[in-house]
Amino acid sequence: MKNERFRKGYRLILVLILMVSVRSVTFAAGQEVKIGAALSMTGAAAAYGATQKNGIQLASDEINAAAGSDGIKIVPLFDDDASVPQQGINVYNKFINADRVALIIGPTLSNTAQVTNRIAQQSGVPVLAISNTAKGITDIGDYIFRDSLTEAVVIPNTIRVAKEKLGIKKVAILYGDDDAFTKGGYDAFKNALSEAGIEILSEMTFAKGDRNFSPQLTQLKSLNPDAIVVSALVEEASGILSQARQLGIPATVPIIGGNGFNSPALIKNAGESAEGVIVGAAWNMTSTNPLNKHFVDAYTNRFGSPPDQFAAQAYAGVYIALEAVKKAGSADNRKAIREAMAQIKDFDTVLGKFSFTAGRDADHTPVVQTVKGGKFVVFGE
Ligand code: ALA
Repeated sequence: MKNERFRKGYRLILVLILMVSVRSVTFAAGQEVKIGAALSMTGAAAAYGATQKNGIQLASDEINAAAGSDGIKIVPLFDDDASVPQQGINVYNKFINADRVALIIGPTLSNTAQVTNRIAQQSGVPVLAISNTAKGITDIGDYIFRDSLTEAVVIPNTIRVAKEKLGIKKVAILYGDDDAFTKGGYDAFKNALSEAGIEILSEMTFAKGDRNFSPQLTQLKSLNPDAIVVSALVEEASGILSQARQLGIPATVPIIGGNGFNSPALIKNAGESAEGVIVGAAWNMTSTNPLNKHFVDAYTNRFGSPPDQFAAQAYAGVYIALEAVKKAGSADNRKAIREAMAQIKDFDTVLGKFSFTAGRDADHTPVVQTVKGGKFVVFGE
């Protein structure tokens, strides 16, 4: 009897301890969540970093304005990875050890992520990539996630649609061979072309920072391809588009690109030459999803120009991070935030209903865009 009472009392104490510990992981009023945003504000990918920063700022301000007295406040800490791995490492070390962020968003380039994310994985800090599309980024470890659809998902769809609508039979390829993303894009294009039974007439390369593509384009032109497939970041992509048209490759020979083309900088830099380019994308600006309409309007009002895919994925990334923090019940428990992130499923975002795959990659439907009248529109509509 005495023993029974003792056991009951013991159980009661256990339940009380459990309740207290559960309560202790709920949020204090105005609890701040520090998110490190490693973005390419300078260097080869600066055009992407600028709109990513806008997207993160907009989402954070919206969340903070709606937070009220007991909500979570997002504190985004921005730093420039300069589009190069070494500076990415410096930024990651600062975020992880000095700022003690809850999680990291970025870096902009896969080429940097494949180095920096190893540090985050070793340190047990969750990373949510918002623009890395090369193969293998999330394979670095279970702390690495991305909301950016991979080239491996986007490109086969782009090639399928281009073949269907344009009857393409033979192409030439031009790609950057010194960058994880442009090389990965090339691999994805090559596989997709072979799957689609499209002949590859020639493969040519360039390096990051190149400005003159005439030698390659002149040779490609002589082969009379039905289309030119290009895997490039936006600076080189813009030069390739302009020079292709200057060299007399007609507009009837479309240029087909991947994720790196999804920037208004392409249209700004290449002007008329950007017309008709075909681009695989992860986000449809014209989507009538109410969240997306709100995002496009709010972004345009605030920054004076419409968002691009990089802004959309950045904006979605902050809301995905917030959802993980809420589910984790902690503003700074990195392990709990990682566990919660992995559970996110059918979450409403500007990218559509969002889930992670078992491998922590983005899982939603890609789109194909073209440039018409100086704007990205859905291809074939
Ligand atoms: N999608 C590009 C990359 O992964 C920006 O590097």
